[in-house]
Amino acid sequence: MINYRVLLSVFVFFLSAVNLFAADDADELLYSIAKIMAVITLLSILLVMWLVLIYSERNDHRGELIKAPIRKFINMLTKSTPVEKEHEILMEHEYDGIRELDSRIPPWFHGLLWVTVVFSIVYMIRYHVVGSGNVQAEEWLEGMRLAAEEREILVRSGAFLNEETVTFADDAATLNSGKEIYDKNCAACHGNAGEGLVGPNLTDDYWVHGGGIKNIFSVVKYGVPQKGMISWQTQLDPTQMQAVSSYIMTLHGTNPPNAKAPEGEIWQEEKGDDKNI
Ligand code: HEC
Repeated sequence: MINYRVLLSVFVFFLSAVNLFAADDADELLYSIAKIMAVITLLSILLVMWLVLIYSERNDHRGELIKAPIRKFINMLTKSTPVEKEHEILMEHEYDGIRELDSRIPPWFHGLLWVTVVFSIVYMIRYHVVGSGNVQAEEWLEGMRLAAEEREILVRSGAFLNEETVTFADDAATLNSGKEIYDKNCAACHGNAGEGLVGPNLTDDYWVHGGGIKNIFSVVKYGVPQKGMISWQTQLDPTQMQAVSSYIMTLHGTNPPNAKAPEGEIWQEEKGDDKNI
């Protein structure tokens, strides 16, 4: 006979082992494999315990204690007229010797009908009377609302901003933050007023890599490492790069003192693209 206390301690040890795994989530894959193995082990232990319970000497050897109610339950679900009583439900008609029994629908199937009836009542009250659930159309609208919200967040975080899509942002808040970013990160090389120092003058008509918001954004993002202009994309997020690039655009034509001699070529914006001036 199996000792229950031994089984119980194995079970408790097993539970604590699962907890140990849970504490270490360093390796996700290993963890999920361990979880699956843990569940399988747990199920096997439960199966063994169940078998022990059924066949243990405390009960009967054939496990009737457990099996009988289960069998009764299954019989209840599938109840049909026993063969010896079939004559009671035999119908009148006969075709070429073929007779028909007026059998009952199996109770489980009949029960299913009532489950659907109850379900439909609950469903109708919840979705059409009280309205606490979303019908399909509302669910769709809700999904669209969430997607729009998510998009809004992405737009704000600048996820869609790149050198192709960037535009000149002329609102004061953006330009102010652009100035802050400039003073902190760029003034050391481009001068406090953009007049140029190590880096080129950013206020004149001449650009080495082309003027306009898209070119400026691109140089800021990728840099020109071999010439001493670093790439800023790891330090500034896209909205910050847009802000500082827009701020640089506002420096154009300010003629600061000690301006560095022009470098590069005169930049002319294509017509009809005023936002890029
Ligand atoms: C370590 C010095 C240094 C810092 C800091 C620096 N730059 Fe530059 N930058 C340069 C140099 C040098 C060039 C010229 C690259 C070349 O000739 O190709 C340059 C070029 C540029 C250009 C292109 C100019 C043109 O004529 O095409 C832009 C725009 C620019 N930097 C913006 C910025 C911004 C914005 C920041 C701050 C976020 C910044 N830079 C910080 C050194 C620097």
